[in-house]
Amino acid sequence: MNYARMVIEKEAPEEYGYDRIRFNLSESSIADQKLSDLGVSLPDLTLFYGEHRGDRTLRALIAGQEAGLSPDDVLVTAGAAGALFIIATSLLSASDHLVVVRPNYATNIETPKAIGCAITYIDLDFDKGFALDVGAVEAALKPNTRTISVTCPHNPTGTMLSRADLDALVALAERRGCYLLVDETYRDLSLGEKLPVAASLSPCAISVCSLSKAFGIPGIRIGWLVTRDAELYERFLAAKEQIGICGSVIDEAIATKALQGRDAFLATLLPEMAARRDIVQAWVDSEPLIEWVRPQGGVVGFPRMGVGPDFDTARFYESLLGRHGTYVGPGHWFEMPKTFFRIGFGWPTEAELRGGLAAISAALREQN
Ligand SMILES: Cc1ncc(COP(=O)(O)O)c(C=O)c1O
Repeated sequence: MNYARMVIEKEAPEEYGYDRIRFNLSESSIADQKLSDLGVSLPDLTLFYGEHRGDRTLRALIAGQEAGLSPDDVLVTAGAAGALFIIATSLLSASDHLVVVRPNYATNIETPKAIGCAITYIDLDFDKGFALDVGAVEAALKPNTRTISVTCPHNPTGTMLSRADLDALVALAERRGCYLLVDETYRDLSLGEKLPVAASLSPCAISVCSLSKAFGIPGIRIGWLVTRDAELYERFLAAKEQIGICGSVIDEAIATKALQGRDAFLATLLPEMAARRDIVQAWVDSEPLIEWVRPQGGVVGFPRMGVGPDFDTARFYESLLGRHGTYVGPGHWFEMPKTFFRIGFGWPTEAELRGGLAAISAALREQN
């Protein structure tokens, strides 16, 4: 494995220093929660090795989110990142081929790169609404394609697959004898129609999800993968056991409490997040130097600056942070031009969001 640090991680706000940022619009989750926000106080837990698959009550809560899933289909992992690592390293080798959407959450690309497999990228195009072309995925398949990897809701664009496209991808994977990996980390933040957990549709489909984004608790490192293929599950479990045997019993206890309150939590959260999206929409509508594809899920969007070739993007980002204290996720975090940037509208307070948007407008004009 040829590991290289990802730029999105090197430049992550927690690495830069939260205290140095005034308006943090770079996050992809809702605001970070405290135990008290979740109404959780910890019992006197026994700190033993937990069940290797993850606590059974927790797995039952996860499986219970979709008809046709059993707790035994769920493997709890160290975040969705841990699940993606287990899946990539279990399925891919240097002689395999992967079809993956780009831009994407960096791990979906970087771990396969570190493995050294052949990769075909399906590039999403702003001018086509960042929509996934299932025909292009099909055309990219080769005899040694092992995995098709998509993300829905998508990071960084916030676009979603239609149900018809998800079904078509599942059917494609079944027909061509490969796996469909659907990174569903933002599923609970679907602002429109929530798609089914892909793994419930076929043993060829593997779902990945997490509590980090919709629940704002990335610090407990709880994610999971779901597969209905028992042999494959065993292989993933072997990988988990070799990495860390089991998860943290403290993290799993907190995750269980959070998921027990899921419906009420999301019922309050989702209208708030839709209203946040409207704030950004109103800014985009009134800002001639910015256009975006209106996100349908997650709490991020990926706007494009309407600037000329002389516009100095490096200077823009320097001023945005240095002078205006505003941090966004620049395009290079996602192998995209720096005229794109990711805005996270769920993490900051409403006042911070408005302050950050005004700062972007100001920084854009410093060079015009
Ligand atoms: C699409 C996607 N998948 C996975 C992750 C990893 O999340 P975590 O490991 O915190 O669950 C992220 C984080 O940004 C993400 O955007």
